[in-house]
Amino acid sequence: MSGLELREVVKHFASGEETVRAVDGITLTVAPGEVVALYGPSGSGKTTLLLLAAGLLTPGAGSVRFDGRDLAQLSQQEAAEYQRRDVGFISQSFDLLPGVPALDNAAVKLLADRVPLAAARREATPWLERVGLGRRLHHLPAHLSGGERQRVAIARALANAPRLVLADEPTGNLDTERGAEVLALLLRVSRERGATVVLVTHDPLAAEVADRVLTLRDGRIADAPQQPGKTGTVAIARRC
Ligand SMILES: Nc1ncnc2c1ncn2[C@@H]1O[C@H](COP(=O)(O)OP(=O)(O)OP(=O)(O)O)[C@@H](O)[C@H]1O
Ligand SMILES: [Mg+2]
Repeated sequence: MSGLELREVVKHFASGEETVRAVDGITLTVAPGEVVALYGPSGSGKTTLLLLAAGLLTPGAGSVRFDGRDLAQLSQQEAAEYQRRDVGFISQSFDLLPGVPALDNAAVKLLADRVPLAAARREATPWLERVGLGRRLHHLPAHLSGGERQRVAIARALANAPRLVLADEPTGNLDTERGAEVLALLLRVSRERGATVVLVTHDPLAAEVADRVLTLRDGRIADAPQQPGKTGTVAIARRC
């Protein structure tokens, strides 16, 4: 089956005498072209779930598959390729390279995939423009605002056309207007390219973009999938 498929996934962490049940038996399928929004209180396991989907953490039990491939079965090289080519991870901490201009930060995954510098910059530029940073291409991260840094991280994650987009609070540092633009961009990436999108968020607007909304509590999905009101989707889609 294509898309993302988690089956009975468990990830516990040992913390002193205690065990933290960060992810505690999650079964979830997200199809290509689908956007799932994941809500939940702090510590409920949202980031851990994204890291498992990215293959950056290995489950203690259960399986994580993308396009039918069990991530646990990938060789080191295949796992690295999966993370570089298939996954666009927008992390909570941005992880930009300091001392490197916005444009080259956005191009970094293309460069890692051996795209020549000029071509990588050419491909990354429109993504920075789409997140409203067309006039910040040559700024260093230290000279960008928090929201601008977040948008560079979003451009970087999307620039090499990933088939799986894992976005951890992508609108967390943005005002409503910019946040809506980013959500519209993620929706567009899903609809136009058929990307599978999982969006961790506290943003109420995300529920209007998502095909499905799920809530995590104590490492489990707390409620049955529900259809959010779609009234805002058209308005958001128009911002693309
Ligand atoms: N490497 C680790 N070692 C030990 N405990 C961990 C580790 N990573 C996460 N945890 C714990 O697992 C739980 C889930 O963490 P996670 O980061 O997934 O939460 P979250 O839902 O993303 O929270 P937030 O909304 O604050 O970002 C937390 O209690 C956290 O302390
Ligand atoms: Mg988190």
